[in-house]
Amino acid sequence: MPSAGRAVLRLLLAAHAAAALEPVSTSLAFGALSLLTGYLYHKQLHCHFAECCLDERPFNASALKLELEEKLFGQHLASEVILKALTGFKNNKNPKKPLTLSLHGWAGTGKNFVSQIVAQNLHPSGLKSNFDQLQKWIQGNVSACASSVFIFDEMDKMHPGVIDAIKPFLDYYEQVDGVSYRKAIFIFLSNAGGDLITKATLDYWRAGSMREELQLKDLESALSVGVFNNKHSGLWRSGLIDRNLIDYFVPFLPLEHRHVKMCVRAEMRARGAAVDEDVVARVVEEMTFFPKGEKIYSDKGCKTVQSRLDFH
Ligand SMILES: *[C@@H]1O[C@H](CO)[C@@H](O)[C@H](O)[C@H]1NC(C)=O
Ligand SMILES: *[C@@H]1O[C@H](CO)[C@@H](O)[C@H](O)[C@H]1NC(C)=O
Repeated sequence: MPSAGRAVLRLLLAAHAAAALEPVSTSLAFGALSLLTGYLYHKQLHCHFAECCLDERPFNASALKLELEEKLFGQHLASEVILKALTGFKNNKNPKKPLTLSLHGWAGTGKNFVSQIVAQNLHPSGLKSNFDQLQKWIQGNVSACASSVFIFDEMDKMHPGVIDAIKPFLDYYEQVDGVSYRKAIFIFLSNAGGDLITKATLDYWRAGSMREELQLKDLESALSVGVFNNKHSGLWRSGLIDRNLIDYFVPFLPLEHRHVKMCVRAEMRARGAAVDEDVVARVVEEMTFFPKGEKIYSDKGCKTVQSRLDFH
């Protein structure tokens, strides 16, 4: 199991093309990945190419759009950027580098959720590979499933500089030791920059502007600079930023009452229950909101919605 304080790497597999790695690059990849995860010791490769590399589904942008609209609340910027980025990337037959997205925002704003939606849209069975399988997979082989999706959780807990070990994979190289990474997707998740995003969103609100009018350009460069200068972001002075290897910094905004309510309703529906507005109101009442005076944004986003709903 992932332990707190450690960067967690989850890997969602799949692809058609599978090329064996040269011994040299295998150890390079192991070095990098095990450094990141801190996990070792799995002898057996669980997932053979035939089983796990064939589930790739043609990318369907409308399906992803629909799913984001139905399930992700209060994140007009993230929805838009992610949809555009993936559509462009998947429609490009010859990408020059892998797609790298860095998702930022407080806990409970949907970063993890979105990355799972993305992965599932590309590899429907990908999420079934659990952590164990992943470790085995990495430890046993680094297969070159060309369009694998890598999700690095809790980047902010990673030691500065560690992530740069994977820089060669993210760069504009045709191949690294015989393997092309250009069709892969890397997603970093981080709470770092959450303060910055919150401040910008709050300023916007205080100025009486519509949240939905907040634009990516209002946030993206501040976010990349902020993360680069933040010792605890996992991307502090990172070559990935320096070299512009991160394609998008995606802000996840703090969630308001109305968004939390949407999460509660969606969760009720997902459980096959009728939406009961009394319960919705009670669940939201129990949650805490900030800043102290205005109490606009949920402290934990939608994170505790499930457990609170269990209780009711
Ligand atoms: C793409 O997704 C949409 C919405 O779910 C669906 O109606 C459509 O049939 C899908 N297209 C393909 C080619 O699967
Ligand atoms: C993959 O891992 C298995 C089991 O650990 C091993 O037998 C096999 O040689 C590995 N293949 C490559 C290409 O490293």
